[in-house]
Amino acid sequence: MLQQRLLANGTGDVGHYLDVLVTDEELAALASALTIGETYFLRQPEHFQVLTRTVLPERLARPDRPRSGADGGPLGPRVLSAGCASGEEAYSLAITLAEAGHPSARITAIDVNPGALAKARAGRYTSWSMRVVPPAVQRRWLAQDGDHFVVNPQLRDAVDFRRRNLAMPDPTFWRPGFDAIFCRNVLMYFAPTVMAEVVRRFAAALMPGGYLFLGSAETLRGLSDEFELCETDGTFYYRLSDSPARPVAAAGRRGPSGADRESFEEVLDLVRAERFGAALGVIERIEAPATPVHSPWDTEVALTRAVLLAHAGDLAGATRDAQRLLGRGGQVAADAHAVLATCRESNADERGALLHWRAAAQADPGFGIAHLHLGRLSRHTGDGVGAERAYERATGLLLTETERRVLLFGGGFNREALLSVCRTMSRGGRS
Ligand SMILES: C[S@@+](CC[C@H](N)C(=O)[O-])C[C@H]1O[C@@H](n2cnc3c(N)ncnc32)[C@H](O)[C@@H]1O
Repeated sequence: MLQQRLLANGTGDVGHYLDVLVTDEELAALASALTIGETYFLRQPEHFQVLTRTVLPERLARPDRPRSGADGGPLGPRVLSAGCASGEEAYSLAITLAEAGHPSARITAIDVNPGALAKARAGRYTSWSMRVVPPAVQRRWLAQDGDHFVVNPQLRDAVDFRRRNLAMPDPTFWRPGFDAIFCRNVLMYFAPTVMAEVVRRFAAALMPGGYLFLGSAETLRGLSDEFELCETDGTFYYRLSDSPARPVAAAGRRGPSGADRESFEEVLDLVRAERFGAALGVIERIEAPATPVHSPWDTEVALTRAVLLAHAGDLAGATRDAQRLLGRGGQVAADAHAVLATCRESNADERGALLHWRAAAQADPGFGIAHLHLGRLSRHTGDGVGAERAYERATGLLLTETERRVLLFGGGFNREALLSVCRTMSRGGRS
């Protein structure tokens, strides 16, 4: 790569090349050659769900958050897409925030690569970039132009693309202004010392208590103690601590040991491989959840154990564990109802299963897999209209269903397969 840039600049001398490199033009060419911009719309959909359903309600209710912006109008959510590549992540944020009822949300999107930014500003994409976007969402926000899709003016207005190098200091930019930062699949470009510097810049650019989302393979471990790890429904992200001395786990919550965390990762890998018996063996090695179950960690272990017991045919054990979680309400209760529905169906009690899937969808109306099962069982009971409605709802929701729920409740199907079942069934197919 360096050889190519030396040749392009008519020199074989690295010293001379470093002189050339101070020009904007050569820095841009080097950035384009070195950076990889793989990205697509709604990548890791669970992050967008956590942002709109968990993070923003908390942010907007915070008493110390400024109520109005520089123009005197209400200050809507402010999100930074850092390493935005060709813009798909930034526009996905704009779409999700607008759909969640935040028309005054503003996204700032930065990248070092000017070619990627030009593409982002053009806002013109192929269907490959849109591969996981539901057709209805696509129609609402992008206009088709031949083989391409062009973002609509409302999205354009919501996003401000700027060229910035994350590795360079810029005190005018890195000051508190954002509720959340998405910096996914970018830190891996940097050496550990630069990573730590970049994370310090993020801490400086977040409002107090703001949030940071990293790619699924990235972590702040060993890089920063300014953030605390958060978890919602199996999705991990970070929150800027109000006080740097604050412990990683919230007060009153039991944190898992490193060995337990590793065992749990192993359990999930075994579930992915559909080796449920082996997964049950490993989960039994993890310290038993406290009773009553409170912390996100204990909830996760108890629920996964219940799912595995159901797979192993221990329906009484699975039912007992799931019932303990019902009182928690919301998404936890919805997951517990899903386990109970599975147990009922294994006992050939379709009516009981239908009632539990209905309760799951009521406890968490965004639970796509619950709607899918409601569709399937409604059709079995002859309720064609109810089935149609449930499948349509499931199709819209499955896109942002968390990986964890697809894994635990998807019956061995991945997201695409579940979506395809919904589409086929909502056209009147039979199961
Ligand atoms: C793999 S893309 C990630 C795109 C998007 N965040 C996602 O996850 O889909 C990585 C992006 O990071 C950008 N990048 C790498 N180093 C950077 C730096 N020093 N400053 C700003 N952006 C950088 C690259 O130009 C590239 O567009």
